[in-house]
Amino acid sequence: MRGVSLVIPRHGHTAIVGPSGAGKTTLFSLVLRFLEPTGGALLLDGRPYRDHSHDEIRSRLAYVEQDTPVVPGTIRDNLLLARPGATDGELRRVLDEVRLAEKIDALEEGLDTPLSGAAVSGGERQRIALARALLRTPDVLLLDEATAQLDGLTEAAVQTCVRARAATGAVVTIAHRLSTVIDADTIVVMEAGRVRAHGGHAELLATDALYRELVEALRITADPQAA
Ligand SMILES: Nc1ncnc2c1ncn2[C@@H]1O[C@H](COP(=O)(O)OP(=O)(O)O)[C@@H](O)[C@H]1O
Ligand SMILES: [Mg+2]
Repeated sequence: MRGVSLVIPRHGHTAIVGPSGAGKTTLFSLVLRFLEPTGGALLLDGRPYRDHSHDEIRSRLAYVEQDTPVVPGTIRDNLLLARPGATDGELRRVLDEVRLAEKIDALEEGLDTPLSGAAVSGGERQRIALARALLRTPDVLLLDEATAQLDGLTEAAVQTCVRARAATGAVVTIAHRLSTVIDADTIVVMEAGRVRAHGGHAELLATDALYRELVEALRITADPQAA
């Protein structure tokens, strides 16, 4: 990454878009301090990362990964990973937020259902991973959206959660869905390790050719009829 200057406001939804290899995941890795920059600086609350411990930084952030959202064990195990002391009431609240409470109530073993079985779909796993992140009520939610075609309910649940969280905290998404991009307060367009443009959807559509291309590609994916 070179010449990247980016401020994430305390409230609101920032979406990162860009072609594969643009540096989106690397940006998250830097923010999560999985990587240390060789130059430049990251700041949290206006203080450089080197003045914070890794624990301090990670306790403020929650990360929903793109590809490995769940670990072996039950639904309860997966949620408690984020906060071992959480009560069933707190689990219920986040499961409600991701629209899974009713589904889990309907399972014979409820929260004790193993995630390895066929009882839980791909979209539901994604929502369990999101619920796990929400259980910590992070200041900053980092969400790398799944690229796989997920069900409409999952898409709607993710959208509602992102909106609700953005009202009280910061949400940064690596957006792979048109609905997520359009919903963001600010969109950051990355290309070859740099921030190429940023702004609102209408503004970027009018001013940035790469953004137009990316949106067109997402439109085709979102609606196979349009292809
Ligand atoms: N640890 C690393 N060291 C060197 N190059 C890397 C490393 N991680 C990723 N890259 C390269 O950096 C570029 C950006 O990768 P990445 O952040 O994964 O892009 P994106 O998530 O936008 O697809 C790619 O060319 C990738 O091969
Ligand atoms: Mg990536």
